[in-house]
Amino acid sequence: MEVVIKQASEDACIAGARIVARLVREKPTAVLGLATGGTPLPLYCELIRMHRDEGLDFSRTTTFNLDEYLGLEPTHPQSYHHFMRENLFDAINIPVENRHIPDGMTSDVPGFCRDYERRIRDAGGIDLQILGIGSDGHIGFNEPVSSFASRTRIKTLAKETLQDNARFFDGDPDKVPRHCITMGIGTIMDARRVLLLAFGESKSRAVAGMTEGPVASVLPASILQHHPDAKILLDNAAASELKRADYYRWVYENKPDWQRDA
Ligand code: PGA
Repeated sequence: MEVVIKQASEDACIAGARIVARLVREKPTAVLGLATGGTPLPLYCELIRMHRDEGLDFSRTTTFNLDEYLGLEPTHPQSYHHFMRENLFDAINIPVENRHIPDGMTSDVPGFCRDYERRIRDAGGIDLQILGIGSDGHIGFNEPVSSFASRTRIKTLAKETLQDNARFFDGDPDKVPRHCITMGIGTIMDARRVLLLAFGESKSRAVAGMTEGPVASVLPASILQHHPDAKILLDNAAASELKRADYYRWVYENKPDWQRDA
């Protein structure tokens, strides 16, 4: 794990966008794993700016989203289909047929999930997976004690997640769908590179557990300690409970220039 602590979330998102942009320039057919939620929004804004101002070309890029609520139409304002169109897809040039998001309206959840895994494999696997982290340590919607071997499947959201996401549903946790389809932890771990972003004090406990605590399924993100290429981009607030924050800053400041990508 490489822990990078930036002063502000905007700085971390710009660093994250540069990593995505470099990959897309070097490998135009790159397969990106995408996340929703508040965290990656400034990163998507920067990608849109790079597309507009610098001609960053996504015409051969393929994307797979981590998750979607079950029971929400793709046109529902809180569906992740809608989120992706509003916050990224409508403003850049990824072909529609190259964008994949779990279908929250499928009548055959297990069949859909098997097919989603097959589509990821057929695309050659995910080159770079963008992740946020839940305050309960989830990645994707893999809630505590999700199996580290899990693949794309249905999950029931934890009460903490319903509470966290109530802000998108008139502040009412009862309006948040109870179920979702999410890539599994095994699916996420198969990505060649992982970029996890976490900002704000509300994430500091999960970030400390993920980074410095034991690897344990009660804190799903802790499995990233076993990923060969995981970068954790934090702001100062999300890093505030890390015991070795000074060490991570020192390592980052002393990196050889050729190794710097954020
Ligand atoms: P957030 O969600 O970016 O809205 O905080 C993160 C997550 O639940 O993974």
